Amino acid sequence: MKVLMYYRGSYMTAVTCVIIICMLLVFQTPIDEFSEGRCACKDCVREQTHSAWFNELYDLSIQPLLTRENYVLSGDIYKYWKGLQKNKKESNYTVVVEKMFSLFPDKTQYLDASPKRCRTCAVVGNSGNLKGSRYGHLIDLHDFVIRINMGPTKSYEKDVGSKTTHRFIYPESAVDVENSTYLVLSPFKILDMEWLISAFTTKNITRTYKKVRPSINANRHKVMILHPAFIKYVHEIWLLKRGKYPSTGFLAIIFALHICDQVNVFGFGATSDGNWHHYFDETLTPFENDSHAGDFENKTIIRLQQENKILLYRGWT
Ligand SMILES: *[C@@H]1O[C@H](CO)[C@@H](O)[C@H](O)[C@H]1NC(C)=O
Ligand SMILES: *[C@@H]1O[C@H](CO)[C@@H](O)[C@H](O)[C@H]1NC(C)=O
Ligand SMILES: *[C@@H]1O[C@H](CO)[C@@H](O)[C@H](O)[C@H]1NC(C)=O
Ligand SMILES: *[C@@H]1O[C@H](CO)[C@@H](O)[C@H](O)[C@H]1NC(C)=O
Ligand SMILES: *[C@@H]1O[C@H](CO)[C@@H](O)[C@H](O)[C@H]1NC(C)=O
Repeated sequence: MKVLMYYRGSYMTAVTCVIIICMLLVFQTPIDEFSEGRCACKDCVREQTHSAWFNELYDLSIQPLLTRENYVLSGDIYKYWKGLQKNKKESNYTVVVEKMFSLFPDKTQYLDASPKRCRTCAVVGNSGNLKGSRYGHLIDLHDFVIRINMGPTKSYEKDVGSKTTHRFIYPESAVDVENSTYLVLSPFKILDMEWLISAFTTKNITRTYKKVRPSINANRHKVMILHPAFIKYVHEIWLLKRGKYPSTGFLAIIFALHICDQVNVFGFGATSDGNWHHYFDETLTPFENDSHAGDFENKTIIRLQQENKILLYRGWT
């Protein structure tokens, strides 16, 4: 009898334990739901904040990259994208994209956000305000370092760093990249996609609207193509259709907001004397006068900083 009581006692203990564990699990669920969309960084881009402005514009259902699953364009996206192209000579979009996916990766990427992830990203623009900034070491500490067009690192390491995980280009701005760097093409026209194919195969496209490099050194297993729907989203939702199209730099910032948990922005904006030039050359370009809505992009970037979604490093000069 005593033995039986003993067993009954431990049976009750076991049942109680199971109940407690179940209750813990049940009560933990709402906490998980609450923290959904958060990350392991101190501040997370996805974290719901009181910024109605940001919440309205930020749409994670728009995938930044073209994949075999999402490449079919809906009517309005196709119309928008074709509208960007000056040269109306038709190439068949489906045929070109299928050719691209026979050469380059076609899988969905970067859908790995989780409460455990803290992916830090540096978006490095080409502004002269990087000169003398000594940001190089800080930039290289980020998980992803996203660079834009021809912005070089060699002999500018102290100010801009040496690591490049992603480089955003279009045919007219293309440069060679290291084998470990992702080459991200912003296609503003079908010919840009055809150029990408040609650059890795026949090398026989030498002109778009101007002379372009017929080939580039890059790892074809690390090529990515921005989705026309993403370009449209950035242009129409973020920039309210200002400018002919978004600048590569602005596309890179919104891309980073989609795939990173924390975004730090370097080398954007004018120098302290109000001029806009590259850190690697001295040619001055009036800031407000290009085909991008420079001034509006600038205001949007500053607003992102005010709403705590990016951290802007302005340099020394
Ligand atoms: C493009 O090519 C696809 C597949 O070869 C074909 O089904 C489609 O009709 C073509 N579209 C046009 C507009 O020619
Ligand atoms: C570049 O990386 C790929 C893997 O992504 C590898 O197969 C290739 O051998 C590398 N090439 C060089 C030149 O290191
Ligand atoms: C490039 O070469 C391919 C295959 O040889 C050919 O189909 C295409 O028309 C050529 N394009 C140009 C611009 O020469
Ligand atoms: C925005 O424009 C102001 C005034 O021209 C300039 O000082 C600043 O550097 C710019 N900032 C960015 C992030 O573009
Ligand atoms: C900007 O462009 C307009 C028209 O293209 C021109 O009239 C104006 O002088 C330019 N402004 C500057 C500061 O270069």
